[in-house]
Amino acid sequence: MRRSSLARRPWPKPMQRTLLLIHGFPLEGSIWQDQVQGLAGSARVLAPDLRGFGADRRPLPRALTMEALADDLRALLDERGAERAVLCGLSMGGYAAMAFAERWPERLDGLILCNTLAAADAEEGRAARERTAIDALEKGSAVIARAMVPTLLSERTRRERPEVAARLEALMARQRPEAIAAASRGMALRPDRMEVLRRLQVPALVITGSRDALMPLPTSEAMHQALRGSRMVVVEGAGHLAHLEAPGPFNEAVAQFLDELP
Ligand code: MLT
Repeated sequence: MRRSSLARRPWPKPMQRTLLLIHGFPLEGSIWQDQVQGLAGSARVLAPDLRGFGADRRPLPRALTMEALADDLRALLDERGAERAVLCGLSMGGYAAMAFAERWPERLDGLILCNTLAAADAEEGRAARERTAIDALEKGSAVIARAMVPTLLSERTRRERPEVAARLEALMARQRPEAIAAASRGMALRPDRMEVLRRLQVPALVITGSRDALMPLPTSEAMHQALRGSRMVVVEGAGHLAHLEAPGPFNEAVAQFLDELP
């Protein structure tokens, strides 16, 4: 039987939403592997290496500010022809997403903040960041990686899935000391952005792990309160890297959020 020419004509593609995944410190885009695969049906997923991390070799300033990261992210969206996107930032990636939201709210379809906080560092925290920067430069990334793994993953993840801890440590150990130092110094300079969240008028989702030792539950609750009409999801048993420790529930929350966007 002959197929009609109508049957051969391709259907117009529905306009695809862009989901921009922004990694944390000191990580790289590949940390989102489970999301790039798991959310491909929900959006066009971008998971870049931030400046200086992973395979990125752009020049690094002494302090890589969250505003500079936001500039890079906007340039990436321009380059990919994405007028608007849903930004999903993990921890340091969340700081960069909030810096972006402050400057270009009109380019957001939605905001997802994972295991992050809107408050600035206290004096003590800023001093610790400078020590991390010096340690990275003087002792190397492997030392930073070894010290950080226990703070990033929940006790349960480390006990039940030691291979996740091993992969994470190897990933952090291969980051450039200069990038670790610059990002650490840049995070110390970020302002409080709670007011940015209060003003924001786009759909928002806050995700965290019930066992996040770095960003305890109240920090996520405060962002959830500030973001009008936001939803909050607490991933049971996960630590600071909820997306890596529990990709199933994490992806489900993000997919539902994307699905329900206007
Ligand atoms: C991160 O996971 O990106 C960092 O722990 C954030 C921070 O140190 O504030």
